[in-house]
Amino acid sequence: LLIGEENTIDPAMLRLYHLKPDEFLQKHWQKKPLFIKAGFTPDALGQIEAADLCELVEDPALYSRLVTHDRSLKSYKVALGPFTKRRLKSAAKGKWTLLLNGLDRIEPVFQEFFRPFGFLPHWRKDDIMVSLSSDGAGVGPHFDEYDVFLLQLAGKKRWGLSAAPLENPKLVDGVDLRLLAGFKPETEHVAEPGDILYVPPKFAHHGVASGESITLSVGFRAPQWKGLLTSWVDAVTGKLDDKRFYTDPQLTPTAHPGRIDKDAINLIKQTLLSSLNELDFDDWFVRMLSEPVDEVQAVTGKKTMSESKLQQFLEAGGELVKAPNCRMYYREDAPHLAYINAQVMNLESEETAVFVRLCDSWRIGASDLAQNSKQLLQVKFLAKLLKAGFIEPAED
Ligand code: SIN
Ligand code: CO
Repeated sequence: LLIGEENTIDPAMLRLYHLKPDEFLQKHWQKKPLFIKAGFTPDALGQIEAADLCELVEDPALYSRLVTHDRSLKSYKVALGPFTKRRLKSAAKGKWTLLLNGLDRIEPVFQEFFRPFGFLPHWRKDDIMVSLSSDGAGVGPHFDEYDVFLLQLAGKKRWGLSAAPLENPKLVDGVDLRLLAGFKPETEHVAEPGDILYVPPKFAHHGVASGESITLSVGFRAPQWKGLLTSWVDAVTGKLDDKRFYTDPQLTPTAHPGRIDKDAINLIKQTLLSSLNELDFDDWFVRMLSEPVDEVQAVTGKKTMSESKLQQFLEAGGELVKAPNCRMYYREDAPHLAYINAQVMNLESEETAVFVRLCDSWRIGASDLAQNSKQLLQVKFLAKLLKAGFIEPAED
């Protein structure tokens, strides 16, 4: 729909690789920003037009925001989508930035932007966001809790960054944007089409467009410890029998009825701690990671094929890709368990081989299949995934 004529991105064109992944991880990942001049060939991405982005705002599956501010970059406002095109047109006046989150969940082609980052685990990947700004506009100085790669697609953006992660950030009151008060950039970069800026969590950054600008963010996710613990405890309590209570059949007379005995405290603590083990942690955690973001959109098998059609499709060089809004993972210690959109399937060994390949590369073709009688079972399995809407035929 949006990208290029042939609707595809050649990952080799995103030359993130003149940076070696191991070197990047060692020196920059979660540690310090990196500006990559000419990190990709913008032409390879075809054209993402401002007008096409504005078309997308009516999609309820997208989380969209419009940030506007005055000329002096002092007073910011946010309006939340979904917008109608009319509302957007009347709201986008002066200095404005349209932010569209979750593009990878509506258009398979956008999930291709994760491909050059294949050296990072998929479960850390969050979403693809695009920002479209008018000349002189930006979303204000802020920091994120997540790693992000900012790919400059069109126009220019001047970035100001902090030299270190923020320890005690002071935020501007009253705006729903977590803007930093009194931010003074310590480094600056001007991003032109093809440039990539990597920003680790907690580093302040402020981008201001010069001319109309389009920036694409490849965003990562990291579970918040507090949220994780809450969900874990919820999952544990969901499994517990509410007819089980504290019992003390061995109770003996006490001379200190006002005292709480250490034995009672220990018993309670030990019982609670051991009840945490009543939940299979690994299974719960991976299942949770695989929950789809958007339940409403979750998976419909629009493009089913019979097993024999699928066999022909693959033999003719066709490939299958992970469907957008589908999360699929396998566990190192139990690869025969397929975790897809919070469901678990127990796989046969030939299915496991295919599933592992699919999870790692989000794409599968005839050359990935067994070259013997097992292939039939693999195609049958792929037809099942296709029917469930977890994968779909690649469009290129
Ligand atoms: C932008 O694209 O201007 C904002 C992206 C960000 O700061 O994370
Ligand atoms: Co940011």
